[in-house]
Amino acid sequence: MKAFQVTKFAHPKDILPSDNVPAPELAPNEILVDVYSAGLNFFDILQATGKYQNQPPMPFILGSEFAGRISKNSPIPPGCSFKPGDKIFGSAQGSYAEQVAVDVSRCYPIPNGMSYDQAAGLFLTWPTAYEGLTGRGGIKSGDWVLVHGAAGGVGLCAVQIAKALGGKVIATAGSPSKLEVSLRYGADHAINYRQPNWQKEVLKITGGKGVDIIYDPVGLIKDSLKCIAWKGRALVIGFAGGQIEKLPLNLVLLKNISIVGLHWGEYLKKDVSRPPEVWKELFELWKSKRCTPIAYPQVFHGLEGVSQGLVAVENRETWGKAVVKLRDENLSAKL
Ligand SMILES: NC(=O)c1ccc[n+]([C@@H]2O[C@H](COP(=O)([O-])OP(=O)(O)OC[C@H]3O[C@@H](n4cnc5c(N)ncnc54)[C@H](OP(=O)(O)O)[C@@H]3O)[C@@H](O)[C@H]2O)c1
Repeated sequence: MKAFQVTKFAHPKDILPSDNVPAPELAPNEILVDVYSAGLNFFDILQATGKYQNQPPMPFILGSEFAGRISKNSPIPPGCSFKPGDKIFGSAQGSYAEQVAVDVSRCYPIPNGMSYDQAAGLFLTWPTAYEGLTGRGGIKSGDWVLVHGAAGGVGLCAVQIAKALGGKVIATAGSPSKLEVSLRYGADHAINYRQPNWQKEVLKITGGKGVDIIYDPVGLIKDSLKCIAWKGRALVIGFAGGQIEKLPLNLVLLKNISIVGLHWGEYLKKDVSRPPEVWKELFELWKSKRCTPIAYPQVFHGLEGVSQGLVAVENRETWGKAVVKLRDENLSAKL
């Protein structure tokens, strides 16, 4: 089959798709899926260059998020309610390929009315936003929520979900066009965090109180503590800015605040009852039209589009969730 295979560590821009990759071999709990769209993640570049925390054995197919259909000839493990032809999305190593092997515990049905492009980038972004704000952040209606990197994949979901849960959202981003995106998808206020003393603007907006929740996928907790409210919660979500921060703990004491981490991937191992609850609530938000997955509109096409898309993500040119379309709805493969 055709696939974006890594045979030696290199940046994806220096890797060509292959025509001749063996079809996936299925473990007993896996199904075979025809991939229609796949989510593009910065960590794919780290994996292709050998610098990621999860490195599959060489050679490996890149890509870890997909949306597609269960293949006609796929076996179905005992007790699994899916059937061939079902539309599903989820997480599986090797998603930049015609077909991928998917563990049945790492996928969900695509809800009615959702496209493959929208579904391809959901498996991480939606629950990372929802569980961060609810389970870890304890959001309440009326809370002020500061979302950093608010036009990014995770950030834009956090903006929508915070609004859906009754929060008042102050978004930050690094360019006027990304600020406009965050406002378009629900933020009440938007601030460019490249401007000095942006925290003063936050304090002004909140009438001097500061924000109840900081949602931070970028690595800006220390700077943000200048504008956190009494008993505020600072959520450590990620380090897109490239630096792991160190914090003076006296601020945590003096301001009476909590610094709270979230690692959504670990829930699938350590808190297995929580993901189904989170997904049930997310699907209800989707059904009531209070939350919509936002795929970056300039969708990348075919396996050649994988490296183009990853370079665009690396250069901070994309917003929302960047995806690559590998097959059309009418089944004509774009690979
Ligand atoms: N904790 C978890 O369980 C979990 C789950 C999923 C993802 N994450 C993490 O969350 C972070 C964001 O993921 P994402 O999918 O939202 O990524 P993304 O779509 O690439 O968005 C990241 C945002 O960060 C901002 N940014 C600031 N400095 C940057 C830099 N030096 N390079 C790139 N972007 C920079 C960019 O906004 P501006 O251009 O506007 O500054 C960009 O929109 C990542 O670190 C990821 O690993 C954590």
